[in-house]
Amino acid sequence: MNQISPLQKARAAYAPKLPPALAHGAMVRVIEGAPTTAVADVEKIREIFKTTFGSPALTFEADPSAKGGKAINVGVILSGGQAPGGHNVIAGLFDGLKSIHPDCRLYGFLKGPDGLVRDEYMELTSDVIDAYRNTGGFDMIGSGRTKLETDEQFEAARRNCEVLGISALVIIGGDDSNTNACMLAEYFKSNNIPIQVIGCPKTIDGDLKNEWIEASFGFDTACRVYSELIGNIGRDANSAKKYWHFIKLMGRSASHIALECALQTQPNIAIISEEVAAKKMTLAKIVEEIAVVVAARAAAGMNFGVALIPEGLIEFVPEIKVLIAELNDLLAANAAKVDAMEKSDKVAFAAENLSADSAAVFRSLPAGIQMQLCNDRDPHGNVQVSLIETEKMLAEMVGTRLKAMKAEGSYNGKFSTQVHFFGYEGRCAAPSNFDADYCYSLGYNASALIAAGRTGYMSSVRNTTKPASEWIAGGIPITMMMNIERRHGHDKPVIQKALVKLDGAPFEYFAAHRAEWATETAYVYPGPIQYFGPSEVCDLVTKTLMLERGDK
Ligand code: FBP
Repeated sequence: MNQISPLQKARAAYAPKLPPALAHGAMVRVIEGAPTTAVADVEKIREIFKTTFGSPALTFEADPSAKGGKAINVGVILSGGQAPGGHNVIAGLFDGLKSIHPDCRLYGFLKGPDGLVRDEYMELTSDVIDAYRNTGGFDMIGSGRTKLETDEQFEAARRNCEVLGISALVIIGGDDSNTNACMLAEYFKSNNIPIQVIGCPKTIDGDLKNEWIEASFGFDTACRVYSELIGNIGRDANSAKKYWHFIKLMGRSASHIALECALQTQPNIAIISEEVAAKKMTLAKIVEEIAVVVAARAAAGMNFGVALIPEGLIEFVPEIKVLIAELNDLLAANAAKVDAMEKSDKVAFAAENLSADSAAVFRSLPAGIQMQLCNDRDPHGNVQVSLIETEKMLAEMVGTRLKAMKAEGSYNGKFSTQVHFFGYEGRCAAPSNFDADYCYSLGYNASALIAAGRTGYMSSVRNTTKPASEWIAGGIPITMMMNIERRHGHDKPVIQKALVKLDGAPFEYFAAHRAEWATETAYVYPGPIQYFGPSEVCDLVTKTLMLERGDK
């Protein structure tokens, strides 16, 4: 038998809180709002989603007199990167289904969407579910990044669901996975296939959110884990007073994680990619701004600091974006020739064949980064942006700039660096109370959407800065979040990604305080996530959510 830690053992007994609408089970009273539309490109979205477009937003109310429903079989899939709380979504879904009818059965498709297409599954019985309550990870059934988008895949899904008698599928994923959930819902409905599809909002990146989806699950826990580590590093920096720490934080594209961690820990520097793009900041400008802060602190006798760098930064720097696009084309057009070259020859080849502007940018990068750009490529031949060690690149470039400043006489300090990348450390942490409750509620609520006969909806739990006793359960048509975007040369319907809003309260708060955090040492040390103890340390909500919702 697998050994479990004392914390896991105690945590298994935690009973997640539910919104009051679900207090008497998943058979709820459904309040329909007005028909919905799409965030943009309304006519195109209506045309693509002929049968699911325009459904009303739903709010649920508890129905103490509700009778049970019929026994149904449901399938569940985890899709994309791990996020704390995924197991609780499944546990909530399981308990919700059992509240509809004790003979309801839940099947978990293995390794993500592939499991649905390849018919690889396991039945999730209470023994399985109980072993995973309130645990981190996606290891109960695994996850995968295959996109469900072709008619062949949809047909395979239909066949495999029919064999198992499955009448509803719950897809737990990010913006892309929920876009695909919506396509699948439309496919089933328009072909009169009686299988409902419900989505649940998952991603530590925090970029799947809007008026109805206040947060994607996992963001809270992941940010708390990173903030604990950043706080520890800040304290070490302030104790030893000899290192500048450059910390890259996960988040493929949006900078929500970097921003939330900055709000929690008050570092000396935090770069926000969306601001870099809006101000069209060059790499040299970013380096200069960091060097100025380093110099100012050095002048005050503080040769140490903490700088947060979002993972997606590089693609938001205009000239690097152009460079990466050119490199992708150049190396793809010369694939056979380039593949046969030595690593260092590839670098020389790129420098000689890029446009003059991009070649200049390329040459300005540290040698190690030039090497990575030419050699770390995905199976499609594209630069693997997430592997680029931006934290090292910036540390090195700032060092070079400081040398020049020293020669000019505008800097007189010591600059020693340590670099870190926090990403995988947070994705499978045991969910915080917030994520444990929120995820369980999202899953339970998905069963209420199924019982209400809906399809193409995302499970929505709102008012989450308040205690769970005030949370609002319901559902939102996925089409409502969609617009048309250009992807791989084609116009596609996709859920609009939520980037950091520069006029939003979280960024405004950060912008108003960063100058003070840069020159003073105002670090906050959040410490580890607390699962047992007073509510004011155990039931925290992210600063992002508090500020967005107008709470302090
Ligand atoms: P999702 O959007 O699928 O939730 O994944 C988020 C993420 O953790 C990003 O922050 C990160 O860039 C990426 O996944 C890493 O992917 P992988 O697990 O494939 O290395």
